[in-house]
Amino acid sequence: MKKIVILISGRGSNLSSILEAHSKKAWKATILKVISNRPDAFGIEIARGYGIPVEVIDHEKFLTRAEFDQALYAAVESLGTDLVVLAGFMRILPDFFVTHFSGRLMNIHPSLLPSFTGLRTHRQALDQGVKFHGATVHFVTNEMDVGPIIAQGVVPVQLNDTEESLSQRVLKIEHIIYVQAIEWFINDQIEIHEGIVSINPPSPQSFSIVGD
Ligand code: GRF
Repeated sequence: MKKIVILISGRGSNLSSILEAHSKKAWKATILKVISNRPDAFGIEIARGYGIPVEVIDHEKFLTRAEFDQALYAAVESLGTDLVVLAGFMRILPDFFVTHFSGRLMNIHPSLLPSFTGLRTHRQALDQGVKFHGATVHFVTNEMDVGPIIAQGVVPVQLNDTEESLSQRVLKIEHIIYVQAIEWFINDQIEIHEGIVSINPPSPQSFSIVGD
């Protein structure tokens, strides 16, 4: 059984789709805990609804960033975690954390990386006039929003899209690709060679939603 810890900061829609998949599929995995750095994250209620233990490690309660980082690391590492899933976790993890969990620390970013790193990716996409947008699941490295790409999902940009409408469309594909990436990890299907991820046995790593 793979031991999974999920880190969140907010709404928790990706968390919800992962917990839903975990409850329905016969994954050889245990979700040990959901950790939130914000006491008011809605995702906390979602986790409790699935009976998953929740821990709040409120970054505002620590005097220094280093103390928060250490507390988070201790909480995750002490559980013997195999996979750390960042699901809308809005803190940048320190290098020692990322290095320790290299190859078993996943993130989802709401753009087709390497385009549109950072925040407000849907605004960036609209401002650039791209016709397709999407989301990426990748392994985390010490560079923000950079790392071996596990899966990508593409959606069309529609006429009259707003940040909100585009983000809703992207979110649908996020929920599909994150569940798939986690499932591949659980089944030991992920291979990384020179920064490129392949799936064994071979499986498409590209997903799409056509229309709304
Ligand atoms: C998602 O758009 C994800 O790609 C980004 O943060 C957002 C989290 O949303 N990393 P949710 O909390 O999963 O609903």
